Amino acid sequence: MADTYVDLVNSGLGKQLASKLGLPKPAKLRRYRPGSDFPEGSVLVLGKGQAADAAAHAMLAWNLDVRRHAQEVDRVGAVIIDYTGLTSPRDLGKVALELASVLRKLRAGGRIITISRPAPGIGTGAASGTPAGAEAQDPAVAAARQGVVGFVRSVAQEMRGGTTANGILVADGVSADAPSVVGALRFFLSGRSAFVAGQFLTVTDERGDSTVDWDQPVAGKVAVVTGAARGIGAQIARTLAHAGAKVIVVDVPAAGEALARLANELHVSALQLDVTDPGAGEKILDLAAERYGTLDLLVHNAGITRDKMLANMDQGKWDSVIAVNVESQLRITRAVLASDMMGERPRIVCLASTSGVAGNRGQTNYAASKAAVIGAVAATAPLIAEKGGTINAVAPGFIESEMTAKIPAARRQISRRLNSLQQGGLPEDVAQTITFLLSDAAGGINGQTLRVCGQNLVGA
Ligand code: NAI
Repeated sequence: MADTYVDLVNSGLGKQLASKLGLPKPAKLRRYRPGSDFPEGSVLVLGKGQAADAAAHAMLAWNLDVRRHAQEVDRVGAVIIDYTGLTSPRDLGKVALELASVLRKLRAGGRIITISRPAPGIGTGAASGTPAGAEAQDPAVAAARQGVVGFVRSVAQEMRGGTTANGILVADGVSADAPSVVGALRFFLSGRSAFVAGQFLTVTDERGDSTVDWDQPVAGKVAVVTGAARGIGAQIARTLAHAGAKVIVVDVPAAGEALARLANELHVSALQLDVTDPGAGEKILDLAAERYGTLDLLVHNAGITRDKMLANMDQGKWDSVIAVNVESQLRITRAVLASDMMGERPRIVCLASTSGVAGNRGQTNYAASKAAVIGAVAATAPLIAEKGGTINAVAPGFIESEMTAKIPAARRQISRRLNSLQQGGLPEDVAQTITFLLSDAAGGINGQTLRVCGQNLVGA
């Protein structure tokens, strides 16, 4: 399962060989490690406005070396750009060229992060569904705002050395220093976002807590993870347990042995349950009530593939994928929202997939189910907000796991290189993103889908 090519091209001889043959040279990504979680070097804040001031203020409090002028920096770890005040496309250029002047000083594992407002009515994958202010209806303003999306996505493709570019979109009516703007900034600076590139995260409201302990962001919360016996689900359970949560791991009886091993390793509770069971929601709630008296966090991770070209598809393959990947999520979420068991700030994260965003040959059933997840999340957001909570989706791209190990070798080699970071992600990358979305730092982010795909270059 491991991508040994990344190690090879980061060794002396392998590096030389890859250069000579013009082969891809994926970098070792800067991943989250407790205590050492910021890029190396200064952080340059470009642009003037409330977002720039708030970002600078927050980063000074994190003891970062914050600079406000491009001429002042030598070794650059990150560049934060305040684009919230854009009124016409012409405004994009000045700051873009200031960024250009420091790009060669950017260290490996660096970060470029824009803070801007969403253009109205355009599905950037993140901005859709948020109400636009009157100012944003001006075509020149909307043009400038959407210009940021093309800019960031192109910068992200030009970066090397594990550096990423991403954007924070602050919905109209939400202040540029809202707690989750600071939370999203912290996430994008961190190694927790190592495999998130070329993406936008919309802060939809003022809720959230910017003082969350970053090493224990879900401390004391009760969390359920479905499909946790192996792969991404097992890693989500591990990461949440290390981040302070009391976890209940769920998987089918056939995976009972692996599930019990994980529960023993993490000292957490296990529940053998098929998520398509009509009473699955109630069974999860009953166990949470019995063990902890509440349920705060739910991760709908269980998922299956039954890949076939549509011409060869049969009813069984179609129905089973829809049943596990989306119907079970809908049913369990409904049960959870109807119960009075959820804590004060319930949070749900659903596993979607880039196949659900861009489609994928041979995966009509799977892509339909994962796109359906994205739709369900957007529609459930206002319902859970009434209860003080949030629901978001994470759409992984190519992740090194048992699921992708089944892909024939040649196709697997190609698939894992087809993104800006030129490598597959690790289950840890998905788990870290989910942990952030479950934390109170993300309390003002609701109804969004965030791709963890290294900026997959295929399709949308
Ligand atoms: P995996 O196949 O390694 O693990 C899935 C787990 O879900 C297994 O432990 C399985 O027993 C469990 N499961 C399946 N049906 C279940 C049911 N009816 N009830 C309870 N548990 C059930 O898959 P992987 O790679 O860890 O994927 C996890 C999630 O991430 C899935 O939703 C998948 O669609 C999604 N995903 C994975 C990607 C990847 O590259 N591996 C890419 C995009 C999305």
